[in-house]
Amino acid sequence: AMMEKGNHRHFMQKEIFEQPIVVAQTLKSYLRRIDDCVSMPDMEFDLAGFDRVSIVACGTSSYVAMIGKYWIEKFARVPVETDVASEFRYRDPVLGKNQLAIFISQSGETADTLAALKHCKAAGLKTAGIINVPTSSMAREVDLLLPTHAGPEIGVASTKAFTCQLAVMAAFATRIARAKGVLSAAEEKDIVHHLSEAPEAMNFALGHDEDIEAMAHKIAEARDVLYLGRGPDYPMALEGALKLKEISYIHAEGYASGEMKHGPIALIDDHVPLIVIAPSGPLFDKTVSNMQEAQARGAQVVLISDADGIAKAGEGTIATIEMPKVHPLIAPLVYAIPVQLLAYHVAVAKGTDVDQPRNLAKSVTVE
Ligand code: G6P
Repeated sequence: AMMEKGNHRHFMQKEIFEQPIVVAQTLKSYLRRIDDCVSMPDMEFDLAGFDRVSIVACGTSSYVAMIGKYWIEKFARVPVETDVASEFRYRDPVLGKNQLAIFISQSGETADTLAALKHCKAAGLKTAGIINVPTSSMAREVDLLLPTHAGPEIGVASTKAFTCQLAVMAAFATRIARAKGVLSAAEEKDIVHHLSEAPEAMNFALGHDEDIEAMAHKIAEARDVLYLGRGPDYPMALEGALKLKEISYIHAEGYASGEMKHGPIALIDDHVPLIVIAPSGPLFDKTVSNMQEAQARGAQVVLISDADGIAKAGEGTIATIEMPKVHPLIAPLVYAIPVQLLAYHVAVAKGTDVDQPRNLAKSVTVE
């Protein structure tokens, strides 16, 4: 079908705004609300039998792999390793018998990820795929297909596929944890509740579109931008930096908050915006002290946090973006929105070709 942009100026903008709906659609097929359980397609293997997990992907999908590692290790207590697909095969990974290999891809056609999948199958591993295109090569290859229901994604820079992948990953982590017997039925119910609140919180986040547009002009003047985050917000910082460089062509780096002092702090002066992704929580103060080290050197901080976080640490920033207070599990789904909108508006301010950025392809089918 011919895709239409509707009232939107770009497909990317349309796809950012579709997220509450497509995430709700995706969650609907994984959450059973009558008894508040995670429900998964039938599988020919027992998740309790795995004692190791590998997650392999490229680009934006690889950040879902990293977030999945935090979640699966936290909830299921199963060790997880993640790789970008182009590194996986060639490092001759040690593959165990009781290892589940998970592949994440919007297109289901990325050459490196498909090759990694075939490598694991040849080694006799069970495979699962979180994939948006159900007719794709990867969807046909995996033992367990966990579809995302983002619908066709046209903008080259992935947005709605990313948050739908996160939704499926959260459900899968919960399911593995239940199978392993390390998560109670009550804890599962609690997670299902929080996950089902994600679309509304994402809607709320979209309400900041105009504030973000207003601050984008300032960021558009920068030569370098740094993003900081901790825990699952560290991959979000990587995603923020990737989005910004992909579509605005501004050099950007994402760093784990605690690593800033081991390098990027040398770059900081009063021309460097620092985007801090930090929901309030047990490690918030540590991130704030990293942020203040940068502020003391002139960094122009944009703090993305909730009301508690902003009340505690908003002073001295050039801008704050207030997110609703959410359960840590759904924070990445919600905080993805301001991160995407910021990249989008900076790109629009710079006048780049947002949906077709130079040198990039929607689907990379060569190694
Ligand atoms: C390309 C796209 C990215 C995408 C990556 C992985 O680089 O421009 O937006 O994240 O491929 O694609 P996949 O379809 O495997 O998720």
